[in-house]
Amino acid sequence: MTIIAPSILAADFKYLAAEIQKINESPAEWIHFDVMDGQNVPNISFGFPILEAIKPITQKVIDAHLMIENPNQFIPEFIKKGVSHISIPIENNPRLRKDLELIKSLGATCGIALDPDTSIESIIPWLDIIDVVLIMSVQPGFGGQSFIETTYQKVARGKEIIGTSSRNILIEVDGGVSISNSSKLKASGADVLVSGSALFKSENFNEYVNTLKTN
Ligand code: DX5
Ligand code: ZN
Repeated sequence: MTIIAPSILAADFKYLAAEIQKINESPAEWIHFDVMDGQNVPNISFGFPILEAIKPITQKVIDAHLMIENPNQFIPEFIKKGVSHISIPIENNPRLRKDLELIKSLGATCGIALDPDTSIESIIPWLDIIDVVLIMSVQPGFGGQSFIETTYQKVARGKEIIGTSSRNILIEVDGGVSISNSSKLKASGADVLVSGSALFKSENFNEYVNTLKTN
């Protein structure tokens, strides 16, 4: 069954508790938590204060997507404050293996996030340690962008590559995901769908999550 991860970057922060409640009442399993520092990506989002606010009121797994420089500085704090999973960018990180090992050693699961221009073959050296491959289907940094259509092939190839390992590694797709591409993404091999703008703008949150899961 496909895991749905509402991205709270698209939530209405005036009513954050109500938005979290909507997620709690829906069949979504995860909450996708995008952290941006204005350096790794050209935008700033949120960090620890928002995590502390939502952690006690959510029943879902918190899936942190760190788009920050030197994630190692902050990984322990994110885990201490209650995230269960952390994905970090694969690009330009000479200490990627150490960072992934740090996440695992603190009891969380780890993932690598791939920019749209990064080849899917680049996951090969990491298959022994990662739990998730996070395929970006927009340029990281902003919600509400259009889905990049070449993602389907990337997901399918990712599935094949993962199949060569003996590990259970999930493929998560992030960016521009809606009910118009969810069906094809799942058929291509996606296990986790992140949805921000499309989901939070939908008329009926619950129904939308259900359709993302089952269409
Ligand atoms: C973009 C973020 C996404 C974003 C997705 O850098 O990683 O998680 O919130 O939002 P939508 O679904 O609006 O593209
Ligand atoms: Zn994200």
